[in-house]
Parts: sequence; C-alpha cells; structure tokens
Amino acid sequence: MKKINTKIIKIDSLNIDMTKLKEAGQAIREGKIVAFPTETVYGLGADALNEEAIKKIFLAKDRPLYDPLIVHINCLEDAIDLVEELPPIARTLGQNFWPGPLTMVMKKSKKISDIVTSGLDTVAIRVPGHPVAQALIREAQKPIVAPSANLFTHVSPTKAQHVIDDLKGKVDIIIDSGETTVGVESTVVDVTELPLKILRLGGTTVESIRKITAKIIIANDNEGVNKSPGMLKKHYAPKAKLILAEGKNETMINHILNLASNYQKLGKKVGIISSKENINKYNGFIVKSLGNAKDLQTCAQNLYAQLRLLDELECNIIISENFENKGLGRAIMDRLRRASN
Ligand code: TXA
Ligand code: MG
Repeated sequence: MKKINTKIIKIDSLNIDMTKLKEAGQAIREGKIVAFPTETVYGLGADALNEEAIKKIFLAKDRPLYDPLIVHINCLEDAIDLVEELPPIARTLGQNFWPGPLTMVMKKSKKISDIVTSGLDTVAIRVPGHPVAQALIREAQKPIVAPSANLFTHVSPTKAQHVIDDLKGKVDIIIDSGETTVGVESTVVDVTELPLKILRLGGTTVESIRKITAKIIIANDNEGVNKSPGMLKKHYAPKAKLILAEGKNETMINHILNLASNYQKLGKKVGIISSKENINKYNGFIVKSLGNAKDLQTCAQNLYAQLRLLDELECNIIISENFENKGLGRAIMDRLRRASN
C-alpha cells in the first residue's frame, strides 16, 4: 500500500475549532478517510455513500470485506432514508439512548451499498454522543461509516496515540481530542425481529435496555457470529497472550500469583490487569489497574489503554482479574474473554 502523509489535527471537544473541523468534513466529502473520536472508541470514517472511500478503510485496517460497518448519523430522523422501515421499537430505543453507545441493526434501504453491509440485507446504525463526531457528520453532510480505528482484530483505540500507532501513514487525517469516555464499543442490537437480540455487549448496558423493553435477549456466540460477522471469537486482542483468571477474592489472587510465577520461571515477562483494590497484591510483577472493581465505568474506560500499555512494555503474558458480570462489567468480561481465546 502506498504510504499516505497523515495529517494530525488537535481539536478540543469542549471548544471546537470550526476551521479545523471543516477541513476534516471536506476531506470526508472528497472521499478521504479520517480517524475521529467517538464517546466509545476512535473510529475510522468515510462517506457512507462513496464505495471507493469505503474500500480505503478496509485496506488501511487490513479488515476482511466480510465484516460489515456501522453507519454514523446525527439524529433518529436521518436513519429513515437508510432503512427500509424504522420499527416502532427502534424509534423508542433511539429516543432513549441516542446520541449514545447503542447501534441498531435494521433492514437496509437501497441507498446503502453492499460493501457497507458485507452483502447482508441489514445495516447497523448509530448516533454517536461525542461532540466532535457529531460536528464532523454535520460538516461532512453525509452519513459516515466508521469501524474502530485499529488494525483488524487489534485492541480498539481510546486515545489518538493508539490510532497513530496502528494507522499513521495509512489514513488521511487523525483528529486528536484526547481520551474517549466510555472506552468499550457500542452495544449492537438487532431490532429486525422480536425478541430483540444483543449481538455485541457494549457501552449501553443490558439492564438499561431492559428498563425500556423486556423483549430482549443476548445472542450466544454462534448466533452472534452468524448474524454479525465481525463478532469473531478471537478479537480485541493485545499482542501478548492473555489469560483471564478464575475464582473470586483470595482464590483469584492466588490463582494469578501461581500462574504468574510459573510463567516467570519459564523466562516470560508477565503483566497483570487488576482492580485498584488489589494493586498491591502482586509484588514482583508489572501491574496495571483499571480502577475500583465497583466502578465498572472507569474500568471500561481504562481497559484498552492498559492492555496496549502492557504490550508496549513487551509483556509476553497478560493475566487479568475477572470483573463482575453486570452492567458495563459484561462488556469488559466479553472483551477479556475474546482477547484470551
Ligand atoms: O462504538 C462503536 O461501535 C465503534 C465506534 C467507532 O462507533 N465502532 C465499531 O465498529 O466498533 P466495528 O466495525 O469495529 O464493529 C462493528 C460491529 C461488528 O461486530 C459487526 O459485525 C457489527 O458491528 N455489524 C455491522 N453491521 C452489521 C449488520 N448489518 N448486522 C449485524 N452486525 C453488524
Ligand atoms: Mg472493531
């Protein structure tokens, strides 16, 4: 692939410099590819109605064409043109969770090309909550397709530096607006039939969706891959081998200490992902904390950056504590499981 001269643009999300933003919006209209922040992770954006531009995204990420893309728009009404019909439940969920980390899969309209959906008859749509993402879509005057801005199967980026590490020289512009707040990707829900199906756990919790509708189930892994080709069993992975510890409290800590010292004896460099409470329990090993175990929002926000950091420190083995399987903890555990496969 020919090397591109990547332009890095800093934009303060609380005080958006419109001159810089207009340049990025123009680039999207011209068929260029632009990495930008969303509240979940950084995305790599292109005009959703321009097939040539969309191809560049697959090339830059080294992403196979069978993995469909999410279309990002400004508001619920903008979805109408892109779908065959907007089911009443989609309207309700949109009113409750958009803008925000929820993606809805609906029957696509003819406007959406097969390259976006990998040939499926459905399209995934979301309204991101990040002010820079919203302003970029508005300036581009186009819906924007955006996968996470990482190399395929790698850990998603939560800072511009992560995008630079994976994609500098491969994309036209990288917008740097600091760290993302949610830290894990959007929740993907299939709303084409009842019960609704969660295809990917993410930033909008199952519990909060259940408050709006009881008719929702979590797809199992096989169904997930069938309906959502990007839900690979091995995904979101650091370079190091990742092991997810079992057990709770002292049992878990002892399990981790045993594993860690065994690997160390074999000459491996071991990194540990822990909660803040346990950070002093693993003397002699590199330890990175995600936050207080009860504060799952902070843990989700820090997860990917800490995994990338342990890679940078050249750990061969990462052993992670397990987190509570509720609320945002479900998404954390889902990502750790997939990274450890
Ligand atoms: O938070 C997010 O969703 C981020 C930010 C940038 O918006 N984007 C993101 O995109 O995570 P990506 O491409 O890394 O993941 C898209 C997921 C994949 O699991 C894919 O299989 C699923 O959405 N998906 C896309 N279109 C689909 C469709 N028509 N039916 C089922 N699943 C779909
Ligand atoms: Mg991704």
